[in-house]
Amino acid sequence: MTRSITFIFYYFTTLIALSVASCPKGGILDAEEGSCLFAVKFEDTFQNAQDYCSNYYGNLISIQSADANEKVLSLSKIFANNTKFAWLGGKYDGTKITWIDETPAEFSNLQEGVPAGYLLLNLTSGKWTTANWNGLFPFVCRTQDASTEPPSCPPYAPCPTDWVYSQSLKFCYKVIFNVDFTEGDQNCRLMNSFLTSIHSDTENRFVNDLGKSGSPQTAWQQHPLIGGKRTGPGKTDWMWVDGTPFNYSIWADNQPDNSQGNEWCLQTIADLFPNAYPKSEQYLYKWNDFPCEARYRVAICKQPAKY
Ligand SMILES: *[C@@H]1O[C@H](CO)[C@@H](O)[C@H](O)[C@H]1NC(C)=O
Ligand SMILES: *[C@@H]1O[C@H](CO)[C@@H](O)[C@H](O)[C@H]1NC(C)=O
Ligand SMILES: *[C@@H]1O[C@H](CO)[C@@H](O)[C@H](O)[C@H]1NC(C)=O
Repeated sequence: MTRSITFIFYYFTTLIALSVASCPKGGILDAEEGSCLFAVKFEDTFQNAQDYCSNYYGNLISIQSADANEKVLSLSKIFANNTKFAWLGGKYDGTKITWIDETPAEFSNLQEGVPAGYLLLNLTSGKWTTANWNGLFPFVCRTQDASTEPPSCPPYAPCPTDWVYSQSLKFCYKVIFNVDFTEGDQNCRLMNSFLTSIHSDTENRFVNDLGKSGSPQTAWQQHPLIGGKRTGPGKTDWMWVDGTPFNYSIWADNQPDNSQGNEWCLQTIADLFPNAYPKSEQYLYKWNDFPCEARYRVAICKQPAKY
């Protein structure tokens, strides 16, 4: 009994989550597969690229036919002309291909003699080759079923699947990966949410705990992006992108300093920062202003809980 209730619970909450995943801007609907494809121009490692796709409930793309290969090649035309390769969502172990989205590897377009590694589409030949996981390439994502109708039944959970519920705050939060401000802002909005605002010590600690890596971090962009945005160069010129009042702040000493005049976004220092001057502890769980263009390890989205 308990088992079947749990099953139904997950079934419906999954549907709710999927129904939120509409085609991202610039994506094209793949009607046959009922999903959207979109090409991402910035270059990153295999895992970071996969994390980025997972922000949209998707995966790096898998390819199951020659037609699909052509579709991905034509989508790749948005990349700069000197871009020669793009990540695919698969791994080759020297004998067989495994796709990260767990689709069967029945079709292959591997170039002969390539070594084991992570799959790359050769944009010149259309053939597949391989690279180490830490190579930097643009990529193509496939999001899950974009055409899923929202379920007509009432919600069974206060938050969508994959979101973290805070009962005391009555909000749902989600960590997304590897974004600058524009992408983070867009990612959250696509999931009916905003980059998080923070209105209390409790909420600040909750968001920091969610966004921490668990190890000391010595680079600013390793610390989470949240939803504060400058409205001007002054110390108090800030707003929250979700439109709530900027009525709480917990800046690190001497922050916000708008260093070089380009620190228009807001991050919270969620892990120890050993090389921060003069004492790393003074930064922990405190805020810093930082450039919006930085590529942050994580960002935090927030939406009201359903009940
Ligand atoms: C690539 O080159 C072609 C032909 O020169 C041009 O039409 C196209 O706009 C270029 N694409 C990009 C993304 O620069
Ligand atoms: C990619 O394809 C081009 C055109 O066929 C070929 O010259 C090149 O060697 C290929 N690159 C790799 C790494 O396979
Ligand atoms: C600040 O704004 C939030 C969001 O509107 C509100 O819930 C909270 O009570 C306000 N806090 C103070 C101290 O005014």
